[in-house]
Amino acid sequence: MCGIVGFTGTKQAAPILLDGLSKLEYRGYDSAGIAVRDGEKPAEVIKEKGKLKVLADMTNQGKAVKGTCGIGHTRWATHGEPSAVNAHPHSSDDGNVIGVHNGIIENYQEQREKLIKKGYEFKSQTDTEVAVKLVDYYYKKYSQDPIEAIARAMVRIRGSYALCVMFKDFPGEIYCARKDSPMIIGIADGESYVASDVPAILKYTRNVYYIGNMEIAKLEKGNVTFYNIDSEVIEKPLTEIKWDAESAEKGGYEHFMLKEIHEQPKVIRDTINSVVTDGKVHFDSVNLTDDEMKSIDQIYIVACGSAYHVGMDLQYVIESLTSLQVRVELASEFRYRDMSLRKNSLVIVISQSGETADTLAALRMAKDNGVKTLGIVNVVGSSIAREADNVFYTLAGPEISVATTKAYSCQLVAGYLLALQFAKAREEITDEHYNELLAEINTIPEKIEKILENKERLQWYSNKLINITDAFFIGRGIDYAIGLEGSLKLKEISYIHSEAYAAGELKHGPISLIEDGTIVLSVVTQTKLIEKTISNMVEVKSRGAKVMAVTTAGNYFLEDTAEFVCYIPQIEPLFAGSLSVVPLQLISYYVSIGKGFDVDKPRNLAKSVTVE
Ligand code: G6P
Repeated sequence: MCGIVGFTGTKQAAPILLDGLSKLEYRGYDSAGIAVRDGEKPAEVIKEKGKLKVLADMTNQGKAVKGTCGIGHTRWATHGEPSAVNAHPHSSDDGNVIGVHNGIIENYQEQREKLIKKGYEFKSQTDTEVAVKLVDYYYKKYSQDPIEAIARAMVRIRGSYALCVMFKDFPGEIYCARKDSPMIIGIADGESYVASDVPAILKYTRNVYYIGNMEIAKLEKGNVTFYNIDSEVIEKPLTEIKWDAESAEKGGYEHFMLKEIHEQPKVIRDTINSVVTDGKVHFDSVNLTDDEMKSIDQIYIVACGSAYHVGMDLQYVIESLTSLQVRVELASEFRYRDMSLRKNSLVIVISQSGETADTLAALRMAKDNGVKTLGIVNVVGSSIAREADNVFYTLAGPEISVATTKAYSCQLVAGYLLALQFAKAREEITDEHYNELLAEINTIPEKIEKILENKERLQWYSNKLINITDAFFIGRGIDYAIGLEGSLKLKEISYIHSEAYAAGELKHGPISLIEDGTIVLSVVTQTKLIEKTISNMVEVKSRGAKVMAVTTAGNYFLEDTAEFVCYIPQIEPLFAGSLSVVPLQLISYYVSIGKGFDVDKPRNLAKSVTVE
């Protein structure tokens, strides 16, 4: 939540900062600000409530602000309402230190009171202003050394932060510190960049450093020096980012979400190809050996949001193909659960960003308990990718739309491959069945393409849903897991109240909410359970519900019950979720744009939830 950027070089900083922030708006968009320095002059600070466009208009797209060194921020409010005063950058009373921050300072009240006693005044309600003034306090109290001042503040601060500050006495320099919030540093000829995420700087450089936890960096034009918390210089390897700059642009699509839905066939194919060669899954890059897979008897899948829904689907797949017990947990619950983790277990954390605070904490909790961990992660070099014992990278590329689509789909396919490999390593599948299932997984990309070819029909149906106030998604087994994701997609971008229920649970409560015209979207792909789900559809229909169904081609009899049926190509039912989710993504997208909402940036949400 919140996006930060910084630049120092010879070009004008403000347009670069605004451009970078535009790529980070998915991280927060209730207010934005920049601080730019022109040589030795004090920084000019411009900040305002509202989306980035307001700031861009105020500064004539940055052209009205002169200077070659600056920092910028797009905010998702935690402490203090969205307002110009609470927007970043924040500065010390005399402008000595100016900073932007992503994260949460947990003990900010205590630090604020201490600073007030020392004579500091506070303009905003933010924890960031406390961090900036704390740095200013130590800078003035001790040797007027930026690194030492930041290190002293870091020791006092509890919480998470990616912090970028400029000091009046050090023109052309930006100082950064990080703990548990994402931050990368980019370098090019005579230019240095800092950002919360790669897309913000991809246009300018592919060469990045990953700054570690409790580390500090000093950025000068084209040069970066890293320090540990003891202010000692440390070396960091330079990494080349493989994503191309176009992948973080809309590429002719009206919205990122639609573009990302259409990218699914390609990125799923890339993810499959990253571990499948010669008709076999190879996990050398994941670093999980067959012997390890044999010795495990319990899997915990831990994640948040849509990634949790991936886990819900995968539990059916893994339990069906192996003798493993699978438990799926919300990371925010798992991390605080007082329970003993089984010794021979594997904790799989799933995360697109690799930075979700609860998922990261759950991973650390598992490691502290001596349990082996595996991350299914999209962002290379992210905290989860760095800290998990093993990593399976999904190759979804940058995902910009807040509502995930392509990253979700890659996670799901990564999970299928994992399940298959577990079955093989544990000798719980015949070679023939293994080959059949792998061949089925390979058909997923082209089958999604077929679904996308028929999207106009879904758009037509979605238009009928624009004015509904409630929706229910029902299904059994894997279909229930997909219903959970379909329901989340609809509510998060179209603001329609929506619930997903295991179809068999309808009679235990939700059926009392069904009345004339209530919309019930059913997912019906699990061959063994089709008749059961149809019974539930009939039950709600006879109470006035309008029923639609997503089902597999051939199940034409569903048209007797549902007023609208969307067919997905035939596929092994274990993998049907990869196809049935696509029409639900499209329906949510079309309903949202039909209602005139900003589909890529739904209200109150941020893509990367780096606070609890
Ligand atoms: C946010 C995003 C979701 C995502 C969830 C978990 O809520 O909007 O799309 O599923 O966070 O994020 P992660 O990066 O851990 O997958």
